[in-house]
Amino acid sequence: TTQVKKICCLGAGYVGGPTCAVIAYKCPHIQVTIVDVNETRINAWNSDNLPIYEPGLDKVVFDRRGKNLFFTTEVEKAINEADLIFVSVNTPTKKAGMGAGYAADLAYIESATRQIAEVARSSKIVVEKSTVPCRTAESMRTILEANSHDDIRFDILSNPEFLAEGTAINDLLYPDRVLIGGLQTPEGYKAQQALAKIYEQWVPKDKIITTNLWSSELSKLAANALLAQRISSINALSAICEATGADIDEVAYACGRDSRIGPRFLKASVGFGGSCFQKDILNLVYLSEQLNLPEVAAYWKQVVDLNEYQKKRFVSRIIKTLFNTITNKRIAVLGFAFKKDTGDTRESAAITLCKDFIQENARVNIYDPKVSEQQIFYDLSGPEVTYDIKDLKKRVTVVQSAYEASANADAIVVATEWDEFKELDFERIYKSMNKPAFIFDGRLILDAEKLKSVGFRVHTIGRANF
Ligand code: NAD
Ligand code: UDX
Repeated sequence: TTQVKKICCLGAGYVGGPTCAVIAYKCPHIQVTIVDVNETRINAWNSDNLPIYEPGLDKVVFDRRGKNLFFTTEVEKAINEADLIFVSVNTPTKKAGMGAGYAADLAYIESATRQIAEVARSSKIVVEKSTVPCRTAESMRTILEANSHDDIRFDILSNPEFLAEGTAINDLLYPDRVLIGGLQTPEGYKAQQALAKIYEQWVPKDKIITTNLWSSELSKLAANALLAQRISSINALSAICEATGADIDEVAYACGRDSRIGPRFLKASVGFGGSCFQKDILNLVYLSEQLNLPEVAAYWKQVVDLNEYQKKRFVSRIIKTLFNTITNKRIAVLGFAFKKDTGDTRESAAITLCKDFIQENARVNIYDPKVSEQQIFYDLSGPEVTYDIKDLKKRVTVVQSAYEASANADAIVVATEWDEFKELDFERIYKSMNKPAFIFDGRLILDAEKLKSVGFRVHTIGRANF
């Protein structure tokens, strides 16, 4: 097998950064260089203030940086030196043109691929790390082969990433599995083995799965679709609970005790967020349509539609409960990230909630332990908003604590399940609020009975109020 000595990673984002930092940490004999076209991001990776918040990431990066882990904008040099190149660039949903709103935008993948072909002066293993539609590796291979010089060969692998944000380092250190797809040729197997050998430095061999390229690409979309489908299923049931008096946590527990169903990923919520679930399902929907499978497309599309419905349903419950108007009422939104332990806000349900509150002329106080004020205003000023962005600062205040957010508020809305929200002094909060004081728990993390005894009127997703 080929012995990989130098790795280059194109894309220093949420995936490229942590993934390759962990490889450097576990393989001190391999030189890992992470490159990006975004200079600000690279500078941050080289500073004390890393560009993303992820528990345990600092330790790994500070341990290896400058030794066998490097961050740079010198893309060409890094490509040329490497034996193996991870392509870990963004693949967002297309905003315009064919497949707009569904298909993955493959422009970054293609330009990264062309750059590799153009610059490479020796053979490379090119690894597709980004999440892509099934058969993208074929396009990459065609571009690489058509543009290669001299006697260079390119072997292409698919190695999708399954880490979840907030637990990325743990997920990378102790993965459930590592998936490596390759062409079913002697060269393809050889390349698969070269990459497997890297992971074998810390991942048990039986957790490293090898498949053909297309299975590997599709498994990534499939895994995200199956996970998101569980959340939409439990959220659909939460609506029935609210109307009947069943309790969604009890239902999830009772169902999850069936070993065929299992307990994880059955937490009802205000809706899933994050950069992956919605994007990857829409990608699968588009792929199904392209393959002339409209029933399959409609099936998966419903997972996203239900998620939108869940967010809207929560907002309308809030407005109805607050006597059908929130005009000029003050709403404290606790949490803005799409889940706890991350500063990432991409597709966060909190964005939808806050936009709807602003649209209804409420005043919104937002507190999140890891999201910056600048990011919050950026997320609330998208081109699609119908309110006047000039008024945004009058309507929205970003504050430094849950206490500050709640002062003089009419209602608290829990949008992210940060642990610190469970430990708040709710007696103190109650005293500082307008009465009647409402709490809407969109994450099912608060002790409703205790809050009621303090005086709050409590509304929890998946629980009735009668
Ligand atoms: P990201 O936007 O955080 O990072 C991508 C980076 O690639 C950006 O910094 C961008 O500047 C850089 N880039 C774009 N074109 C480049 C080029 N030609 N050369 C060098 N750098 C370039 O995205 P991310 O969250 O890290 O996701 C990357 C991929 O991984 C996506 O396909 C995503 O679907 C997938 N993925 C993400 C997660 C997650 O939790 N975020 C998990 C699994 C898989
Ligand atoms: C997801 C996949 O879990 C990961 O394997 C893949 O690589 C990338 O996409 P991520 O989006 O980072 O990871 O976080 P995840 O923990 O899956 O949560 C996604 C969203 O679902 C969050 O908004 C979370 O709050 C929500 N969620 C999760 C629920 O509402 N209920 C649950 O039971 C689990």
